[in-house]
Amino acid sequence: MTLKKVAVNLGRHSYLVWIGTELLPRLGEFLRASFTASKVLVITNPRVRGLYGNVVERGLGRAGWDTVWAEMPDGEEYKTLATVQCFYDLALAKELDRACPVVALGGGVVGDTAGFFAATYQRGVPFIQVPTTLLAQVDASVGGKVGVNHPRGKNMIGAFYQPRLVVADLDTLATLPAREIRAGLAEVIKYGVIKDAVFFAWLEESIDRLLRLERDALAQAVATSCRLKAAVVEEDEVETGHRQILNYGHTVGHALEALTGYRVYHHGEAVAIGMAVAARLAVAMGLLAEEQAVRITALLQRAGLPSRVPAKFSADELVKAMRLDKKARGGELTFVLPEAIGRVRLVPRVDAQLVKSVLSVC
Ligand code: NAD
Ligand code: GLY
Repeated sequence: MTLKKVAVNLGRHSYLVWIGTELLPRLGEFLRASFTASKVLVITNPRVRGLYGNVVERGLGRAGWDTVWAEMPDGEEYKTLATVQCFYDLALAKELDRACPVVALGGGVVGDTAGFFAATYQRGVPFIQVPTTLLAQVDASVGGKVGVNHPRGKNMIGAFYQPRLVVADLDTLATLPAREIRAGLAEVIKYGVIKDAVFFAWLEESIDRLLRLERDALAQAVATSCRLKAAVVEEDEVETGHRQILNYGHTVGHALEALTGYRVYHHGEAVAIGMAVAARLAVAMGLLAEEQAVRITALLQRAGLPSRVPAKFSADELVKAMRLDKKARGGELTFVLPEAIGRVRLVPRVDAQLVKSVLSVC
């Protein structure tokens, strides 16, 4: 399979995203093309190390790298400053200097935490993303948002710190649970709705191949998602406005996650419900044709994703949770709403009564 390359053009923070198969064994070569240090710190978790640690270490060794491993326990609850403190301790004990690259090998939890470590250790060391979940390959590894959670809120401590390189090996998706694949597909569908009607139509044709993990289809989906995300990030690297379109589906999605203590839904599942609700809201506001909303919901359902708000949540409690979201301003509800498949708009001050009426029929 051919290797695909997506450029993220951010001036002196520019980098390439490589997408293909059999890339993990070649990680050492990719790093050697840019770095001359002898040691590399690879941050991962026990599950991913168990699956891919040997292949990564052998490949790094062949290219002359001395690998230092750092593991964090598996799970969102370990995306904390305490974990980052352990990485500082280890890096100092191993005498890692500012030239030593830091590799995040894992999903978005490892990527966000390792990225925050890399952004802050000795005021910033080279950071490389090696995402091993679909969600991380299409979203979390690109764009430079790194950070950890605070007991009072998710991603409350963080930075914008772009990686120097992203290497996405599609082979790693073979070991990912099907539910994680579906959650990643929610973000892929999101890119079609927010920015590319042709891609959305291709997803309608290709969704079954993606669910079967056919490599060519995956390569196309990951590369196009990264290209679309890169275009948004290039316009608004530190989220002063336009980048917020990446939050399509997140107003309701975050509310559902918060109401369930982040324990019931995978992020992509909550976002899928949020995307379907936002599409119906856009229809109710006269912004979107009904037939387009039906296509969005149908594709989410074919991807095996939920698209309805479970009856146990009342519209009142959902709207209350949306008002507490960190992106809400002064209790006002802001939504990213589709105007057509392939085009969205940020709509502030959406009428709460209208939102409740749409939620109560969703
Ligand atoms: P995750 O990192 O928790 O990974 C999901 C599970 O898959 C974990 O148990 C992990 O150990 C396992 N895993 C990883 N790779 C595997 C593989 N190849 N085979 C088998 N198992 C594997 O979850 P995620 O969905 O990748 O990431 C979610 C995180 O990403 C959240 O913390 C979220 O805030 C963050 N995120 C960040 C951005 C960003 O722009 N920085 C964007 C979206 C999400
Ligand atoms: N995942 C949203 C962003 O990167 O802005």
